[in-house]
Amino acid sequence: MLLHNILPFAHMLLKNCVGEGGLVVDATAGKGNDTLLLAQCVGSGGRVWAFDIQAAALSATDKRLQQAGVRDRVTLVQASHADMADYVPEGISAAVFNFGYLPDGDKNITTCAESSVRAVACALNLLKTGGLLVAVLYRGHPQGCDEAAAVLDFACGLPQQGFQVLRYEFANRKNHPPFLLAIEKTAHDTIRLPESLTDKR
Ligand SMILES: C[S@@+](CC[C@H](N)C(=O)[O-])C[C@H]1O[C@@H](n2cnc3c(N)ncnc32)[C@H](O)[C@@H]1O
Repeated sequence: MLLHNILPFAHMLLKNCVGEGGLVVDATAGKGNDTLLLAQCVGSGGRVWAFDIQAAALSATDKRLQQAGVRDRVTLVQASHADMADYVPEGISAAVFNFGYLPDGDKNITTCAESSVRAVACALNLLKTGGLLVAVLYRGHPQGCDEAAAVLDFACGLPQQGFQVLRYEFANRKNHPPFLLAIEKTAHDTIRLPESLTDKR
């Protein structure tokens, strides 16, 4: 097929923008698929920070990376991605968010609107100019619906002179298909959180 599905399209974008020696973030490690791709892209001189709030996810990711021989390029962090600025330096070339719950895991432990918007804003501030943020959003479950709306609303409000925002979605698929947002940082800009989020941590 000519048109890539959402996840292969996300990986294609990441491969195009992450090179050897890059600093990158996987904001939702899960089972480690995206972390592994990033670790392969950055090579032995780069670094990946992979976040997840669940120990089971980080343990699956750890195993995956070890099997592929790239574990030493990755820092696994058991913390919310909303706090990524406490762990990651400025100047990253990419960040990926694959929102939702751990496949085969507890569906009640899922990413949620407020911390997701906070984390996306944070990642945009850490991105270098020319860097890319890729987010895959799922509307097929109640929390995902609110989250997708909140992240989309935030992304649509980003200033055009600093960011290019792409939405990639199959328009004729049934049952709330996922969609992708790709945000390219085209100029140095500092994003402030929406007022509703600024007074909470
Ligand atoms: C759809 S999965 C990620 C899939 C993963 N990228 C992969 O390649 O397998 C979403 C993950 O986000 C994690 N998560 C939920 N809330 C989070 C948060 N606030 N910060 C970081 N990770 C979170 C979940 O525990 C779950 O493992």
